[in-house]
Amino acid sequence: MTATHSLPAKGQSVIRLSGVSKNFGAVSALTDIELDVKAGEVVALVGDNGAGKSTLVKVLAGVHQPSSGTIEFCGQPVTLDSPAKALDMGIATVFQDLALCENLDVVANLFLGHEMSPWALDEVAMEVRAWTLLRELAARIPSVREPIASLSGGQRQTVAIARSLLLNPKLIMLDEPTAALGVAQTAEGLNLIERVRDRGLGVIIISHNMEDVRAVADRIVVLRLGRNNGIFTPESSNQDLISAITGATDNSVSRRADRKAGEAQEQHGGAACARPRTSRCWTAATSACAMTTASPPWRRASSTACAPATSACCPSPSASSSSPSSFPR
Ligand SMILES: Nc1ncnc2c1ncn2[C@@H]1O[C@H](COP(=O)(O)OP(=O)(O)O)[C@@H](O)[C@H]1O
Ligand SMILES: [Mg+2]
Repeated sequence: MTATHSLPAKGQSVIRLSGVSKNFGAVSALTDIELDVKAGEVVALVGDNGAGKSTLVKVLAGVHQPSSGTIEFCGQPVTLDSPAKALDMGIATVFQDLALCENLDVVANLFLGHEMSPWALDEVAMEVRAWTLLRELAARIPSVREPIASLSGGQRQTVAIARSLLLNPKLIMLDEPTAALGVAQTAEGLNLIERVRDRGLGVIIISHNMEDVRAVADRIVVLRLGRNNGIFTPESSNQDLISAITGATDNSVSRRADRKAGEAQEQHGGAACARPRTSRCWTAATSACAMTTASPPWRRASSTACAPATSACCPSPSASSSSPSSFPR
């Protein structure tokens, strides 16, 4: 089998989902999902548990077939009816458990199921290819003949990503790539994701860690209860993101920000409108934005795009907490 899609130029769409829904019997795991990932772009998929992130990744990996909607890959409509087909087309997935064999060395893990000359293993060629790939990723692996069991969490993550790059994918999806990593290893992991992006691939990462998401993502797509609930940039505030993720403007993050802003205002003599923009302001502002741009209500690009509307004073904390969010869906 050979892949028939060539890697699009940077900035061109690698994968585009339109109106994708997935039902499991009576459960609607995904409803009318829109997603666009471009070559050379990292898109973070965030959302609370049950938001539909894993289901979406499985739809793209060919594990689940969508109940409705269309998927375009490199500009052509496609049907991803099996994981093998998705992989062959150029969609690679690094699952959270990494799926590595502890007792096998790095080379064996990289080529598992895709061995060179499988009837008389070409160990030298595989080892050379392994070193080349790892060097391209600037990976810090002591030896490609080390068993996986002796590698650190970060090194394992590197091997799993390198393995997914072996088949020259156009899109790579990483499920919680930094969840099991320490501080230094996380930084390394994020560097690795940037290097993958610099190769011109489209990258989707699922993460619960907002700092990691901000550090590496070009766009942040929020899912909530199986639906799109906003597209943000790394500059968007934590409040905005948490509001979109939870659907509530009155949450612990916004309350803390309100409290800190109130304290700062007291210290500076209570200047009017000294409080930073709250999620609630943002909701109102971006609703106005959505109306003027006639885009779907969830497509509230960057909150900075809505800057003019935010110049109005924010409502008082009591007003915002007494009136629950009317987050547009
Ligand atoms: N195989 C399945 N059968 C039935 N329901 C499922 C299945 N997979 C996921 N779901 C449901 O779909 C919804 C989204 O789940 P999931 O995609 O795992 O969310 P997330 O990864 O964001 O936590 C949940 O309500 C979940 O129970
Ligand atoms: Mg999940």
